[in-house]
Amino acid sequence: MDKTFSFSLNATDGKARTGVISTPRGEIRTPAFMPVGTAATVKAMLPENVRATGADILLGNTYHLMLRPTAERIDRLGGLHDFMNWERPILTDSGGFQVMSLTALRKITEQGVRFKSHIDGSVHELSPERSMEIQRLLGSDIVMCFDECPALPADRDRIAESMRMSMRWAQRSRDAFGDRPGHALFGIQQGGLEEDLRGESAEALRGIGFDGYAIGGLAVGEGQKAMFETLDYAPDMLPTDKPRYLMGVGKPDDIVGAVKRGVDMMDCVLPSRSGRTGQVFTRRGVLNIKNARHQDDPRPIDEHCNCPACANYSRAYLHHVFRAQEIISSMLLTWHNLHYYQEIMQGMRDAIAAGRFAAWEADFHAERAAGDI
Ligand code: GUN
Ligand code: ZN
Repeated sequence: MDKTFSFSLNATDGKARTGVISTPRGEIRTPAFMPVGTAATVKAMLPENVRATGADILLGNTYHLMLRPTAERIDRLGGLHDFMNWERPILTDSGGFQVMSLTALRKITEQGVRFKSHIDGSVHELSPERSMEIQRLLGSDIVMCFDECPALPADRDRIAESMRMSMRWAQRSRDAFGDRPGHALFGIQQGGLEEDLRGESAEALRGIGFDGYAIGGLAVGEGQKAMFETLDYAPDMLPTDKPRYLMGVGKPDDIVGAVKRGVDMMDCVLPSRSGRTGQVFTRRGVLNIKNARHQDDPRPIDEHCNCPACANYSRAYLHHVFRAQEIISSMLLTWHNLHYYQEIMQGMRDAIAAGRFAAWEADFHAERAAGDI
C-alpha cells in the first residue's frame, strides 16, 4: 500500500466535491462522516460494526485519552488502532476544544492551557507541543493543530485575539509535528462569524502549509442560518486541493448544507449519542422511540433501511428495550443512526459524481418535509 497521505478530487458539482483521501491505513471516501470514538470506543458499537455502517475513519480525542488511560499507556500497548481494534484511519482532535467545553477550572496563556480533569480533578497541561506529542503517541493518522475555540456569542476583539493566538499555536503545532510521512497535520481556521477574520486565519494557515484544513469555531450555538452564512465563504478561503473538514457538525440537514458549500469531512456525536437517548434519524425526519405511540407498532423504523435494527426489529420492540433500559437499545439505535448518516454520505458522493447533487438535495428535503413517520 502507498505509504503517503494524499487527496484526489474525482468530481465537483457546484461547490460540492467528491474524492478520496489515501492514507497508509486505507482510503477515506469524501465527503466523509467520521463517527466519534472519544474514549477509544464508538459507544455501544463493535468496531467491525462501525465499519459495516460504511465508516472509513473514526475520530478520537486527545483530551479524554490523555486523562484515561493516558497516551503513554496506549503507546506502550501498541497504539490506539491496536488498542481499540480499529485498523483503519483515525483522526484525533487536539484537546483545546474539549478543555473549554468539559472543564470548569482552566487557565489559558500564550504557552497553553492548564486545567482540572473532569474525571478526578487532577491538574494537567496542554500546549501545541504536548498535544502533538500525545497525538503521536496515540498513532493518529490525521492530527489536528492545538487551537482555542471561543464560545459564541463573543465580541469581535475577543474573537480576533483568540484567532491570532490559535494561528501562533498552529505554527508551533507545525514545528512540533515535524516530518512524519504517512501522517497528516490539519490546520484549523477560526474567526467566528466575521468574514475578514476568517480570511486572515485562512491566510495564516496557508502560509504555514498543512495537509488539510479544518473549519473550527462553528456549531457552537450560532444556529444553522449563521453557520451556513459563514460556510458560504469560509471553505472558499481554503486550498482547493486539500481536504476541508468542518468540525463537530451536525444534524443531517447541517451535513448536507455543509457539503453543498464545499466541505469534505465532518464529525459529530449526534448519531451515536442520540442512539443512546432514543432519538432516531430517518429519511423522514426524527423519531423518538420513547414515545408511547410506538408501543404496539409492528413496523420497523424505516422499511427501506437495511441496518440490523430495521431488518430484524419492530418499533414496538425498540420502544420496549429503550423503556426497559436494555443495552441492546443503545446498540440497535446507534447502529441505525450511524447507518443512516453513512447512507446520506454515499448518496451525496454518488450524486456529486453523477452531477446531480441539486436533484439529490431536493429529494432529501422533500422526503423530510413529507414527514409521516
Ligand atoms: N470541535 C468542534 N469545533 C472545534 C474547534 O473549533 N476546534 C477544535 N479543536 N475542535 C472542535
Ligand atoms: Zn435502520
